[in-house]
Amino acid sequence: MATTILNHPLIDHKLTIMRNKDTGTKEFRQNLDEIAMLMAYEVTKGLPTKNIEVVTPICQMTGKELVRPIILVPILRAGLGLVDGFKTIIPTAKVGHIGMARNEATLEPEEYYAKFPSCLDAADVIVVDPMLATGGSASAAIVNIKKRGAKYIKLACLVAAPEGIAVIERDHPDVDLVVAALDEKLNEKGYIVPGLGDAGDRLFGTD
Ligand code: PRP
Ligand code: URA
Repeated sequence: MATTILNHPLIDHKLTIMRNKDTGTKEFRQNLDEIAMLMAYEVTKGLPTKNIEVVTPICQMTGKELVRPIILVPILRAGLGLVDGFKTIIPTAKVGHIGMARNEATLEPEEYYAKFPSCLDAADVIVVDPMLATGGSASAAIVNIKKRGAKYIKLACLVAAPEGIAVIERDHPDVDLVVAALDEKLNEKGYIVPGLGDAGDRLFGTD
């Protein structure tokens, strides 16, 4: 499996608006939504298809359909900001939710909420989260999704630190990772540098 860094001009343009500390909630959300649509196209590029016969108004031909249904899994909270954009491009996608929060005593990410459609094992599961920092939240979420049966998993993140990418590649070599932008590093508080700050807070207007 592979890691792909998109470096797409249109995504980079919109991401730069999101990175700006003076960008407000409305514009932040709108740009994340637009980027999600572009990422959905990129993330789904390698999905398997099978041949089916179709009759056009002119003649019969062999067309294609996806082999498996798609389940989106946002990591709460900030992952929610990517769901509408993905659903615009994949309207048939079902959505599972997983909430991960750091246990203040152990510093380990722990699941605090989970609800999934059935047939996780038969679906292409796309886990979405704007930020891949230490990689702890995404890696633990994927462990828990695998325990529930998921077999075909992709992870889509907007901004990643090299540390987070290394954790996913180490813990989940079977998972395709698609990242819009690779940043420089983590700071001492675990924030991505230069990053865009706290994605959940900026998305929901909390602080
Ligand atoms: C953010 C982000 C990721 C996580 C990344 O969520 O959306 O889930 O941090 O950090 P990591 O790679 O070091 O685990 P946060 O924990 O701030 O929760 P929120 O989405 O509810 O704000
Ligand atoms: N979570 C965020 O929202 N931003 C970061 O930079 C790191 C973790």
